[in-house]
Amino acid sequence: MDQHRVTITFTLNGKSVTMDVPGAMNALTLIRERLKLKGTKEGCGIGECGACTILVEGRAVNACLMLAAQLDGRDVQTVEGLAHEEGLSLLQESFVKHHAVQCGFCTPGLLMSAKALLAENPCPDKAAIAQAISGNICRCTGYQQIFDSIRHATGAPTGEEKT
Ligand code: FES
Ligand code: FES
Repeated sequence: MDQHRVTITFTLNGKSVTMDVPGAMNALTLIRERLKLKGTKEGCGIGECGACTILVEGRAVNACLMLAAQLDGRDVQTVEGLAHEEGLSLLQESFVKHHAVQCGFCTPGLLMSAKALLAENPCPDKAAIAQAISGNICRCTGYQQIFDSIRHATGAPTGEEKT
């Protein structure tokens, strides 16, 4: 028997997408396997690592915990939507500049959490940054470089020159 399927239409990185999806498919599988956007990572698959973080209506969510059907009618952004035609976003550049990317597995999720934070709070303090990325696990960096990257991207004083 065919699995129950639903037709969904949503905006993905600024473009409208309509597709049929199995009712039980999660948003992470839709993004990675159907849409072939491999920037969004699968780590734990149970909402604990943050590697799969995407933005839905500007809010950071774990794609592994959402049904694809829940994206219907929503505005969705993945890490592929961050860069501009001219190149990387300021936030991405800041991650590179401050050596916040080592193995890189956590990076897409962290970028999306940081983007959601900065949209809501353009000049977050350390506590706000810590809260915003509390669901994103990084096993490589020790987090200081990530804090520096996000702070620098705000334009807030960090003791370093602004790019
Ligand atoms: S893969 Fe979604 S939180 Fe870990
Ligand atoms: S850079 Fe490797 S897990 Fe964060």
